[in-house]
Amino acid sequence: MSSSTTKPTTPLVGVAAALAGSHPAETALSQFALPGRVALITGGHRGIGLEIALALAEAGANVYCLDLPPTPDSDWLKVQAHAASLAQSQRAQGNLLVAGKLEYVSGDVTDQKKVWDIAEEIAKKEGRLDICVANAGILRSAECLEYPAEEFRKLIDINVSGALFSAQAAGRQMERLGIPGSIILIASMSGSMTNKDQHWVAYNTSKAAVIQMARSLSCELGVKGIRVNSVSPGYIYTQMTRNFLSKNDGLDADWSSQNPLGRLGRPDELRGVVLWLAGDGSTFCTGSDIIVDGGHRAW
Ligand SMILES: NC(=O)c1ccc[n+]([C@@H]2O[C@H](COP(=O)([O-])OP(=O)(O)OC[C@H]3O[C@@H](n4cnc5c(N)ncnc54)[C@H](O)[C@@H]3O)[C@@H](O)[C@H]2O)c1
Repeated sequence: MSSSTTKPTTPLVGVAAALAGSHPAETALSQFALPGRVALITGGHRGIGLEIALALAEAGANVYCLDLPPTPDSDWLKVQAHAASLAQSQRAQGNLLVAGKLEYVSGDVTDQKKVWDIAEEIAKKEGRLDICVANAGILRSAECLEYPAEEFRKLIDINVSGALFSAQAAGRQMERLGIPGSIILIASMSGSMTNKDQHWVAYNTSKAAVIQMARSLSCELGVKGIRVNSVSPGYIYTQMTRNFLSKNDGLDADWSSQNPLGRLGRPDELRGVVLWLAGDGSTFCTGSDIIVDGGHRAW
């Protein structure tokens, strides 16, 4: 064996802890816990973003939701209050794991300087930034031969440039503070297949770019200990998909029939994969695209 071979150092978990006769530093479930960590999630005002934000907070992280509205709506405030009340009762019960807080910050992911500044402010206030979920995105439909230039550019700007600016914003703080952070780009199954009968050339192109962006960033940032992965959901029932489903009778049944589970997914069904990627259970996972599509691509 070459002397340059790097032997991985083993943290005191699992079999190594058992053989050393010590209690492990982390058990299987605690590897999903995020106490004291700080997260930034874009598009965190509703839908998949808000669901992921609450999951990260329930796991103990302080979570900053960046989105377009100047102030959050009543639903978002209700979820924020829920996280605070959960934390209060967990503290009262003396629980070791206490939910983190949810904060809202207004911003547009296409504004690179603004997104960088927001991440810097969060890192200064909290003293760290461990997790970034670049989730903001839009979906539009238009015939491929007629797609108006301005609309195409706008979608690419939000879905692709916005994902890069968010990853940069967090990555710069992780590098500055020497934090082995986790950056998660929300792509889509549409980045590696084409949705049957949907005229989504801009969206599909943007999500393919996001998958490749995660792969490319992971190769540059691995040396700094920063991991970058993408998550590719299938059809999930949110405002984004409701906009299409409500205008097309039978589309719900059609999309449901396209995966072996025979239904659309729910935003909460993405909690597990994001918690896993954000935390210490996935420290050797980078440059991957994790598909969560009810088996859509298995057919
Ligand atoms: N719903 C699905 O079936 C599905 C499937 C695969 C991937 N996705 C992806 O998941 C992500 C979230 O989708 P969703 O279904 O929750 O959609 P959604 O429309 O409910 O939420 C998207 C959020 O992004 C925000 N946003 C849009 N443009 C922004 C900008 N310029 N700056 C900041 N925030 C902005 C919106 O205000 C909104 O709160 C998107 O990237 C989407 O492409 C969704």
